[in-house]
Amino acid sequence: MTALFATLLYVATAVLVGGLAYRIRDYARTPAPLKIPTTPAPVTRSGVALRMLREVAFFESLFRSNLWIWAFGWLFHAGLALVLVRHLRYFVEPVPGWLAFVQPFGVYAGFAMAAGLAGLWARRFLVPRVRYISTPSDHLMLVLLLAIALTGLAMKYVAHTDVVAVKAFILGLLLFDWHPLPADGLVYAHLALVVLLMLVFPFSKLLHAPGLFFSPSRNQADDPRERRHLAPWAAKLDAEN
Ligand code: HEM
Repeated sequence: MTALFATLLYVATAVLVGGLAYRIRDYARTPAPLKIPTTPAPVTRSGVALRMLREVAFFESLFRSNLWIWAFGWLFHAGLALVLVRHLRYFVEPVPGWLAFVQPFGVYAGFAMAAGLAGLWARRFLVPRVRYISTPSDHLMLVLLLAIALTGLAMKYVAHTDVVAVKAFILGLLLFDWHPLPADGLVYAHLALVVLLMLVFPFSKLLHAPGLFFSPSRNQADDPRERRHLAPWAAKLDAEN
């Protein structure tokens, strides 16, 4: 099992990193031919940076459009962020002071993450117009994330796993000096689901995470009167004529 999971995690990491790099390169090279910031929009680049920061940290536009989805969505994402930071302790030795400090908060984050996901999933059944447009993959992504959260919480609250051995396994992967993974069904399930998430991430709707930064309606300044907006391919045509 150790060799199987070690191989799966190496492959999944390669797919995740390579796939994301490929998709981000694709997004970065896609021309934005029009000036289309959603107004009212900032008129300077630093204003745009601040707008993006508010969007990433607080989901500002979702807050304005739908308070219910915002509440569940933000709960899930904020919980996920804290859970991921908390997991860093498996990857570094020694554990720095700030990482030790956030550990207790991370415990509640696991519950916040699961509650947010449950709310978002319920919405896909209970709101008729959302149910109508929901595809199997919409449901499956939520199920996958929820299953990861529940197996994680089960390891903490139902059947303790040997976290010291899990850490030795992960550090062993990083140093190419393998150590055995604890023989524990919940660890196997948690890691198998994480591998699945890493494999599908670059091909799924979860790409909205990097995609947000490339959204022209959010990342453009409202300055078409001060600066003529010219997509690179249009500039080439201009030069030819
Ligand atoms: C190689 C990657 C990962 C490893 C080795 C790992 C391992 C673990 C372990 C051992 C626990 C139990 C913690 C304890 O008993 O104190 C746990 C909990 C948890 N895991 Fe993971 N996990 C990984 C990735 C992830 C990912 C990607 C997510 C979310 C998408 C996640 C979500 C959770 C949650 C919500 C909990 C419960 C709350 C907590 O203890 O932080 N895990 N994980």
